[in-house]
Amino acid sequence: MTSQAAHKDSILADPYSLPLESIDLSDPSLYSQNRWQDYFRRVRDEDPVHYQKNSPFGPFWSITRFEDIVAVDTNHQDFSSEPFIMIGEPDDTIPVANFISMDPPKHDQQRAAVQAVVAPRNLAAMEGLIRERIGTILDNLPLDESFDWVSSVSMELTSQMLATIFDFPYEDRHKLAYWSDIATGAPELSGGTASQEERFAALHDMVNTFGALWEQKSASRKAGNPVGFDLISLMESNEDTRDMMSRPEEFMGNLALLIVGGNDTTRNSISGSVLAMNKFPEEFAKLRANPKLIPSMVSEIIRWQTPLSHMRRIATRDVELGGKLIKKGDKVVMWYISGNRDERVIANPDHVIIDRANARHHLSFGFGIHRCMGNRLGEMQLRVTWEEILKRFDDIKVVEEPERVHSNFVFGYTSMHVKLSPIS
Ligand code: HEM
Repeated sequence: MTSQAAHKDSILADPYSLPLESIDLSDPSLYSQNRWQDYFRRVRDEDPVHYQKNSPFGPFWSITRFEDIVAVDTNHQDFSSEPFIMIGEPDDTIPVANFISMDPPKHDQQRAAVQAVVAPRNLAAMEGLIRERIGTILDNLPLDESFDWVSSVSMELTSQMLATIFDFPYEDRHKLAYWSDIATGAPELSGGTASQEERFAALHDMVNTFGALWEQKSASRKAGNPVGFDLISLMESNEDTRDMMSRPEEFMGNLALLIVGGNDTTRNSISGSVLAMNKFPEEFAKLRANPKLIPSMVSEIIRWQTPLSHMRRIATRDVELGGKLIKKGDKVVMWYISGNRDERVIANPDHVIIDRANARHHLSFGFGIHRCMGNRLGEMQLRVTWEEILKRFDDIKVVEEPERVHSNFVFGYTSMHVKLSPIS
C-alpha cells in the first residue's frame, strides 16, 4: 500500500470522461473537494456493484445502490466485519479490536454490555444537560463578527457530550475530540494525514487516561458505591467486559469506537445542518415557520450529510450480488454516501427536503446487527441544538466555503465560518 498516494490532494477529472475501471472511489480528495456526487452517480447507473482492481488500499468491491447496501449490511453471515470496517488496513504497530469489527457472538456480548448507556431512560436523563450546555455555548457566541462554527459549536458540544457519557474530567474534554480525529486520521486507514508518531503518542495517552479512570471506577464500586451510568462504569462492572483491561487492544479499540462513534458523526451533522440551511434557504424558512419539523429535518440532514461515508466487509464465501461474483476473502465497501443519494429509492436525493415523507429511511446509521448504537443520542443532540438555535437566531449565514475533512471515511468539515443574526 502506498500511503503517500492515499493522501495527496488529487486533481480530479470529470468522471464521465474516465474509463469506468479507472474511477477511484477511495480517493479522499473526492470528499475533501466535495466532488464525489457525479462519480457515484455514474457508478450507480453503469456498474452498481463495481470492482476496483487498483487502489492505494488494494482491490475492493464498491456497493453503491441503496438496496444492495441493505442486502450486504443485513447479511453478516456472508459479509464479515472482521478484522476491520474501514477501507484501509489498521497499522499493526497500534493493535486495536472493538465490537464494530467483530462478528457474533463476541460482537453481541460486548455491544450488550455498553448498550444501557444509550437506553431511553438514560437519554431522557441526559436531555436536560444537553440543552443547558448547548444553551451556554450559543449564548456565548460573538454576534458582531464571523467565527468558525466547527470549533466553537459543533466540536465544543460533542466534546461536552462525550465527557458526560464517559464521566470524563470536564476540563480535559478537548482531548476526546483530538483522540477521535487521530483514531481515524491515519493515511493507511482513510487517506488522512496524522503521522504514526502522533497517533502512537495520542493513543498511548488515551489508554493511560482511561486506564486511570477505570481503576477509579473499580475502586469506587468495590468500596460499595452504586455503579454509575457512564460507559466506563458499565464496562467495568459487566461480566462480559470486566476483564477488558487485560486485553489492551480491545480496551483501546472499544474506547476509540465509542469516542469516534459519538464524536465526528454528530459534530459533522451539526455543521452539515447549518450548511444545508444555507444551501436550501426555502427549507430554512419552512423550519422557522414550523419548528415541529425539527425531528424530521434532523433525519433528513443525517441522510444528506452521511457523516460516515462507508463501512467495509469481507466476503466469507463466494456470493453473487447484482450479477457479479464476489469471491470469498474479497473486500466489500458499502458506500452509504452513495446509497443515500440513490434516485431509485429517494426522490430528488441531492436536495434537502425537511418534511420529506419517511425521512428516517436512510443508510447513515447502517442496518443489521451493527446498526448504530448511538443513533437516538445523535438525533437527540441535533434536535436539541436546533430547538435552542431557533430560540436565539434568525439566521446563521455561512460566509465562505467550508473546509472539508480529507478522508474517505469521515465525511465532514474542518472549518466553516458563519455570521449570526440574533432574533430582532
Ligand atoms: C455504529 C453512524 C452517532 C456509537 C455505527 C455505524 C454507522 C454509524 C454507519 C455502523 C453501522 C453498520 O455497520 O451497519 C453514526 C451516525 C451518527 C452516530 C451517522 C450521528 C449522526 C453515534 C453516537 C454514538 C455511536 C452518538 C455513541 C454512543 C456507535 C457504536 C457503533 C456504531 C458503538 C457500533 C455498533 C455495532 O457494531 O454493533 N454508527 N453514528 N454512534 N455507532 Fe454510530
